[in-house]
Amino acid sequence: MHTYNKNTPIVVLTGAGISAESGLATFRDNDGLWENHRMEDVATPEAYARDPEMVHRFYNHRRQQLTEVQPNSAHVCLAKYMNNLPNSWLITQNVDDLHQRAGSERLLHMHGSLTLQRCTACDQVGAVAADLRTDSLCETCQSVGSVRPHIVWFGEMPLYMEQIYQLLEQCELFLSIGTSGAVYPAAGFAQIAAAAGAHTVELNLVPSDVSFAFAESHYGKATEIVPAYFKKLVAFTD
Ligand code: OAD
Repeated sequence: MHTYNKNTPIVVLTGAGISAESGLATFRDNDGLWENHRMEDVATPEAYARDPEMVHRFYNHRRQQLTEVQPNSAHVCLAKYMNNLPNSWLITQNVDDLHQRAGSERLLHMHGSLTLQRCTACDQVGAVAADLRTDSLCETCQSVGSVRPHIVWFGEMPLYMEQIYQLLEQCELFLSIGTSGAVYPAAGFAQIAAAAGAHTVELNLVPSDVSFAFAESHYGKATEIVPAYFKKLVAFTD
């Protein structure tokens, strides 16, 4: 049995599976279609260049969906336990705001966030105040049509990578929750953490594409297995 204390460096990675029971569709559980769109048609810079209106419509719709969903017990559990573990970091691939709304601190949205926009003219990142449109105005530089979702699309570099690699090198426990392990670099985090000496744990509905990289695995619904795992984990902390 591994023993940890309050100061153990911990990294938790989450994916779409943690938000599934809140009512948000995962990416790869529906015939490769994501809310009836092929991912290449909406989540690439090329798609945005080709048809920015369609891409805005898609993300505006997904942003509106956030008003209809709530964090579930897995999000709440991570916030409750991790906020008391000062060297723990939560890295999410999700662009929803459910970890934030559950109250998680030390949270990195490596694929960006539906609630943020970025101006391609001046690089200013800020909160989205209204639906984005092809003629939206950047309040900072006054450019028209330069504001896009602050979402990492395929072919773009995920955010915070330098900090994330440092955290992976230093952590003693790495947990992966609700992610298929199909998209790199996140899919490679378990191997990096394991190579640096961390104990690696997968919590997912089914074995992921990179399940071989984990020393321990628990399969089931996030709202059940995440609280169960953390209850056991805190039994071994100060
Ligand atoms: P996926 O849709 O690829 O995988 C979701 C995983 O969650 C699958 O392994 C499911 O079995 C599991 N799952 C489903 N329901 C669950 C539940 N109730 N409890 C626990 N697990 C459950 O989503 P991600 O791995 O997050 O990138 O996808 C990674 C990236 O691919 C996304 O961040 C996105 C996408 O392209 C960008 O937007 C850049």
